Amino acid sequence: MQESNSTVKKAGPVRRLFALPNEHPVKTIVVALILCLICSVLVSTAAILLKPRQLANEELLGKQREILRAVGRYQAGMNIQAEFSNIETRLVELATGEYVSHINADHYHYARAVADPATRVEIAPEADIARVRAIAKYAPVYLVQEAGETRLIVLPVHGYGLWSTMYAYLAIEVDGRVAGISFYKQGETPGLGSEIANPRWQAAWRGKRIYDDQGTVRLALITAGKRDPDQAEFQIDALSGATITSKGVTHLIRFWLGEQGYGPYLRRHFHVGGGQ
Ligand SMILES: Cc1cc2nc3c(=O)[nH]c(=O)nc-3n(C[C@H](O)[C@H](O)[C@H](O)COP(=O)(O)O)c2cc1C
Repeated sequence: MQESNSTVKKAGPVRRLFALPNEHPVKTIVVALILCLICSVLVSTAAILLKPRQLANEELLGKQREILRAVGRYQAGMNIQAEFSNIETRLVELATGEYVSHINADHYHYARAVADPATRVEIAPEADIARVRAIAKYAPVYLVQEAGETRLIVLPVHGYGLWSTMYAYLAIEVDGRVAGISFYKQGETPGLGSEIANPRWQAAWRGKRIYDDQGTVRLALITAGKRDPDQAEFQIDALSGATITSKGVTHLIRFWLGEQGYGPYLRRHFHVGGGQ
């Protein structure tokens, strides 16, 4: 017995710890601490490893929510993914208006495509009315399908206001009228330019015409004194005290629905903006 005690004393601290009886308080505390350490390492590792996927999921859900908002189908608490199952994502080559099938539209990252010299398209300063500097060769479109037919086309658009780049989803009926718009990211002044994000102001876009009979983009934000009743179907109230933001919105619509944006696509696939 004496010999085995001296063997334990000579052994390392771990052995000595495990040689203690299970009910010994030191052994209980140390084992609990070791378990806590192992668990916290496991939890932190999982959190770190899953973070990128979680962020990507949140970004995707956020995007889907804003697209649903643009088409007037968003309600708080709804199952966004289920509602989005009727919306098809396609990629379009902007210059030709053709659908692109060699790239998976669901995994396409527009901002990365703009940064990539292989797919970046510089916009000449005199043509850059939306102040985007460059766009990607391919852009996504979201098609709301009903009974096997496309009912609405949702286009991501962006352009510069007074302080910031303003991002929106513009939903269009297949007859070329606006179905809705959702500005979801912008940094204009709260109460002034930021009113572009106000759902009440956005509601005024519904039903407006985008192109005239010659296929020119005519939709514009117009200040109170300058409205022309004969042109009401193309005119949306500009935001008071935010003329620069309002002009930025008009310009981004003209740019993205024009020849450098989705103009060729809408003409080719929906005869929208093709003139009459
Ligand atoms: C603090 C501050 C914030 C402003 N924010 C905006 C803005 O977000 N968008 C905008 O167009 N004009 C903004 N303006 C006003 C512009 O400087 C400019 O005067 C205005 O666009 C002219 O529009 P109005 O003719 O409707 O007043 C801001 C002005 C100040 C002093």
